[in-house]
Amino acid sequence: MASSDKAVVEEVPLGTTAKPSFWTRVKAHYKKWWWAHLIGLIVVVLVVVLPVVYVGYPNIAQGDINDSTLDVESMEISDPAPDGFHLHQRQVIGSDSMFHPKIFEFDAEVSLLGGPVFATADVPEVKADDGAVVIVDQWLNLTDAGAFGDFATAVMLNEEFEMNIYGEPRLKQGSLPTIHVDYNKTVTMKGLNKLDGFKIVSLTPVDDRTDGNTAEGTVYIPNPSVLQLDMGNLTLDVSLQNGTVLGQSFLNDLVLKPGNNTVPMLANMDMQAFFAMVLAGEREIPLRITGNSSVYNGQEIPYFTQALAANVLNTTLNLTEVLA
Ligand SMILES: *[C@@H]1O[C@H](CO)[C@@H](O)[C@H](O)[C@H]1NC(C)=O
Ligand SMILES: *[C@@H]1O[C@H](CO)[C@@H](O)[C@H](O)[C@H]1NC(C)=O
Ligand SMILES: *[C@@H]1O[C@H](CO)[C@@H](O)[C@H](O)[C@H]1NC(C)=O
Ligand SMILES: *[C@@H]1O[C@H](CO)[C@@H](O)[C@H](O)[C@H]1NC(C)=O
Ligand SMILES: *[C@@H]1O[C@H](CO)[C@@H](O)[C@H](O)[C@H]1NC(C)=O
Ligand SMILES: *[C@@H]1O[C@H](CO)[C@@H](O)[C@H](O)[C@H]1NC(C)=O
Ligand SMILES: *[C@@H]1O[C@H](CO)[C@@H](O)[C@H](O)[C@H]1NC(C)=O
Ligand SMILES: *[C@@H]1O[C@H](CO)[C@@H](O)[C@H](O)[C@H]1NC(C)=O
Ligand SMILES: *[C@@H]1O[C@H](CO)[C@@H](O)[C@H](O)[C@H]1NC(C)=O
Repeated sequence: MASSDKAVVEEVPLGTTAKPSFWTRVKAHYKKWWWAHLIGLIVVVLVVVLPVVYVGYPNIAQGDINDSTLDVESMEISDPAPDGFHLHQRQVIGSDSMFHPKIFEFDAEVSLLGGPVFATADVPEVKADDGAVVIVDQWLNLTDAGAFGDFATAVMLNEEFEMNIYGEPRLKQGSLPTIHVDYNKTVTMKGLNKLDGFKIVSLTPVDDRTDGNTAEGTVYIPNPSVLQLDMGNLTLDVSLQNGTVLGQSFLNDLVLKPGNNTVPMLANMDMQAFFAMVLAGEREIPLRITGNSSVYNGQEIPYFTQALAANVLNTTLNLTEVLA
């Protein structure tokens, strides 16, 4: 701007008596120097706009992504196989940003926070409004089944666990260019908390079954999480707290739903031992129950087996109540 001001001064011929009016001079100036002003204007626009578009906007977008929250409302695992399962997960985005960019479909790596990635989920395109719902509904291939076994074990044993979701989605706000952002969210979720509260509700001796089972009953399994797990046919080892083996119990086609579950049980246990205890006047028998296996469609599901085996359930069998 300084150079064009100088030009104005030079343009005025020396010794002129009738000075041209201010507006005439301005007009003459712009007629001669319009191109310089145009270049100046373009430079100013570029200097202001380019950093806003290519530095400010990506920074704001990334900052908003950083500040956004993710809440997993439900997570259903069904049709389990050793190398994958069907996942139906409903999650809600929380954001107090004034911008509502579109986040394109992206691959999200899923892991237990700090652990190895066990699978890559396909997250659909979403407009990042506060309360936007994202539903992942797909067959999930396990790229590291061992890491998922550790994840399932953490879910089983803990009151809460932290799941990390990482991806590099493309993002677009209005007519601004499409950019890449880092999406790194850790979601704290309730776990199964060792199935604390597990209880044998009833146990009735039977002697007419062709499959060799000696008792039928029901068990109560609380599930404080939002997870629904299709665990297949479970075999549990049952023993006394002093280590004496009583036998096994079976929960067939167990679908563990969020909340309270009361499901049928079959047992192949030494009922004579129970009768002996009853005769000996024992009424409350402390039991130790450990997962032996999870089998779905004839295949053992190693990650469920690992999680079940890691959990030793201590429960008191109330014979007065149970055998009633
Ligand atoms: C977003 O979070 C990452 C990781 O915490 C951090 O490195 C980055 O500086 C943050 N970006 C913005 C724009 O806040
Ligand atoms: C899962 O992996 C199998 C091969 O291992 C592949 O054929 C299939 O397309 C994959 N599915 C998905 C959803 O990635
Ligand atoms: C995501 O953030 C967590 C901490 O919150 C960090 O440990 C992890 O390394 C980050 N992941 C990536 C891929 O940057
Ligand atoms: C465990 O307790 C049961 C019943 O009280 C008893 O019959 C059995 O002998 C005990 N076993 C051991 C190894 O102490
Ligand atoms: C589950 O059972 C517990 C008691 O065992 C009870 O306090 C709770 O209200 C029940 N929850 C539901 C959702 O029924
Ligand atoms: C699982 O059950 C089988 C019998 O069905 C038994 O041989 C095996 O020892 C059990 N495994 C564990 C870890 O308890
Ligand atoms: C569980 O076992 C029963 C009886 O053996 C069988 O009919 C059923 O298909 C099994 N369920 C699964 C999910 O494999
Ligand atoms: C059950 O008792 C055993 C030791 O007797 C203990 O290691 C285990 O953690 C207990 N399980 C639960 C769920 O409290
Ligand atoms: C066992 O069941 C009986 C009958 O329902 C009940 O009176 C008793 O309090 C129960 N004992 C325990 C320890 O829950």
